[in-house]
Amino acid sequence: MTVFEEAEFKHAAVIGAGTIGLSWTVLFAAHGIRVAVSDPRPDLADAVDAALKEFAPHLAERGLDVTGIADRVRLAADVTDAVRDADVVQENGPENLEFKKDLFATLVAEAPAHALLLSSSSAIPSTAFTGELADASRVLIGHPFNPPHLIPLVEVVPGERTGADAVTRAVEFYRLLGRAPVVERKEIPGFVGNRLQNALNREAIYLVEQGVVSPAELDEVITNSLGIRWSTVGPFLGSHLGGGPGGYRHMAEHIGVSMKKMWAGLGQPSQGPEEQERLIEAVENAYGSSTYSELTEARDRRQLAVLSALDGTREEN
Ligand SMILES: NC(=O)c1ccc[n+]([C@@H]2O[C@H](COP(=O)([O-])OP(=O)(O)OC[C@H]3O[C@@H](n4cnc5c(N)ncnc54)[C@H](O)[C@@H]3O)[C@@H](O)[C@H]2O)c1
Repeated sequence: MTVFEEAEFKHAAVIGAGTIGLSWTVLFAAHGIRVAVSDPRPDLADAVDAALKEFAPHLAERGLDVTGIADRVRLAADVTDAVRDADVVQENGPENLEFKKDLFATLVAEAPAHALLLSSSSAIPSTAFTGELADASRVLIGHPFNPPHLIPLVEVVPGERTGADAVTRAVEFYRLLGRAPVVERKEIPGFVGNRLQNALNREAIYLVEQGVVSPAELDEVITNSLGIRWSTVGPFLGSHLGGGPGGYRHMAEHIGVSMKKMWAGLGQPSQGPEEQERLIEAVENAYGSSTYSELTEARDRRQLAVLSALDGTREEN
């Protein structure tokens, strides 16, 4: 018995089964939802199979009963077939405006009238791809972080014509999946998570371009400092504590002054074709001797350890 036996979301459609869609598929099925997966990739059956084998044990470790999980996943012939009995659709196709415009026109026409239509888009607000639809009331962004079956955050971002009811239902859906949905009040390209990630990545690329550190050294700086801190306190609480007993006020008026001066000098990497090629080679030199699955396995083992260490500690804050 899972919470979904009592909930309105019993059938899901996953459209696009790449990195993100496969992870959602396993998370949904692990919660007892029946999942129809649509993707034109010729190796779809093998990819779904491999994802179930790799990710289901993670979810068992997180306390879910994954018995019979594979029986709840079916490969759909196409998008129309996938959504025919869907209560919720999670779209994870290419990050391309025209693709999303066409696909959401199909979803609105083909999915049952009550189905919630969610897009995993990393950066494109739904208003940009629903403008030509007669009804966009049940379309919105449900943006996860990779891999969605482990990282809890989902950014729920309504478009200009999304109904309030669809926002409430999306939050309920993700909560039932054990996710941590955050509703954002305004659309902005990249939403909140990827704007923050990009601000940091831009500086990271700049520092490597300038020869200050190598890619692996930069990663070490993050995983041994901000990475650990940010899984316990966000930037604002972190600064409030960094100010000592004087709190954020002391931080802002004291160290904040020199930090603010630094803003103007933050890096603008050039990343022309040559610099980009040099950076790609440097990252490949750092990590290319391990396979993709060796690296993801090591990452997921550590992420599971962090999640389990944090279990039950959030309420104490
Ligand atoms: N990779 C990430 O870290 C990440 C994180 C959060 C959100 N996202 C977003 O999720 C979405 C998917 O990203 P991804 O990284 O999984 O990409 P991906 O390239 O791994 O997967 C995209 C999949 O879409 C499939 N596809 C192409 N045309 C299709 C169609 N007509 N119908 C169904 N499937 C089709 C492709 O075959 C491919 O398997 C994007 O919008 C991306 O911005 C990505």
